[in-house]
Amino acid sequence: MNHAPPRRTSLEINGARHEVSSGITVAAALSLFAHGITRLSVQAEPRGAFCGMGICQECRVLIDGQLRLACQTLCESDMVVSTGTQTHGESNQ
Ligand code: FES
Repeated sequence: MNHAPPRRTSLEINGARHEVSSGITVAAALSLFAHGITRLSVQAEPRGAFCGMGICQECRVLIDGQLRLACQTLCESDMVVSTGTQTHGESNQ
């Protein structure tokens, strides 16, 4: 049986530093520290991860300056995540 403490990763979410367990997704970190909000719709309504498997695109966030799917991206040390932006290529409202 392994009793080692879980490894931790530090990343920045919307300008604030947070520690998370290694191996969780950015979507999971956003649910802990950003009310689960990933982006804004074209009507400026908050959106969040829905399918959790890379299909719906609701979890698009800026990660290190590039749009990526939060549900398909594992947290990495010193990653910079920005949420609440209106994303281009909007297909869902
Ligand atoms: S939650 Fe649907 S693509 Fe990420």
